Amino acid sequence: MSRRIIEKIPENMASIYEKATRMVIESYYSRVAEEIVSNLKYDTILDLGTGPGYLPIEIAKRSLSVKVDGIDLTRELIAMAQENAVKAGVADRVHFEVLDAANLRFEDGSYGMVISTGMLHMLKDPVKVLRECYRVLKSGGEAWIYDPARVSSQIDKKRWKASFTFRERLFYRLFTIGALFNPLRTYKREEVIEMISATNFKEYWIEEGDGELKIRMRR
Ligand SMILES: C[S@@+](CC[C@H](N)C(=O)[O-])C[C@H]1O[C@@H](n2cnc3c(N)ncnc32)[C@H](O)[C@@H]1O
Repeated sequence: MSRRIIEKIPENMASIYEKATRMVIESYYSRVAEEIVSNLKYDTILDLGTGPGYLPIEIAKRSLSVKVDGIDLTRELIAMAQENAVKAGVADRVHFEVLDAANLRFEDGSYGMVISTGMLHMLKDPVKVLRECYRVLKSGGEAWIYDPARVSSQIDKKRWKASFTFRERLFYRLFTIGALFNPLRTYKREEVIEMISATNFKEYWIEEGDGELKIRMRR
């Protein structure tokens, strides 16, 4: 499997990324949050590669009993996620921190559900992350991984780019030039099955649709 060198979203791209995700809260994160909340068996959720935190926030808005932790490698995004949680009035039930999904500080069996949107394809060591999902899940708990997130197809690119500041426009140009040498990859179903076979997950389901893989694994 080929590996991307830059795993996290660069700090100077965080504000640009946040602007894009903000445009799809209703059309994407709300839909995924509904799906997750209607399948909740436990009240503790961990969101890996949370970005600006919109998925945990939409989940917390829909379920008052739930506690969601979100982690990401990009400091700037975690700071934005914390601010967004305060603005949404859910900061008492949603917690964000900078952490590597491949080296979680949480104890075994801490979460009822582990979720992630759009992170799998960015990982240097996806198997290590899936093993961490297994470790931190309670028995019977599930990991739901959506990848690549369908976010990009729903963004109004013209409106998004028009919202850039001068500085953001420069960073965006640099980033798109860099991306030419490091194109995004997406995993095929068979590759995901190979990854899961290297973990202790025995029960799993993979759905494909609208250009997004939805992977569900039960501990
Ligand atoms: C495409 S973004 C998706 C963000 C968010 N889930 C969303 O749907 O908007 C992928 C995120 O994963 C984060 N990421 C990549 N590798 C990571 C790792 N090993 N541990 C934690 N976060 C990681 C990146 O910094 C980035 O914010």
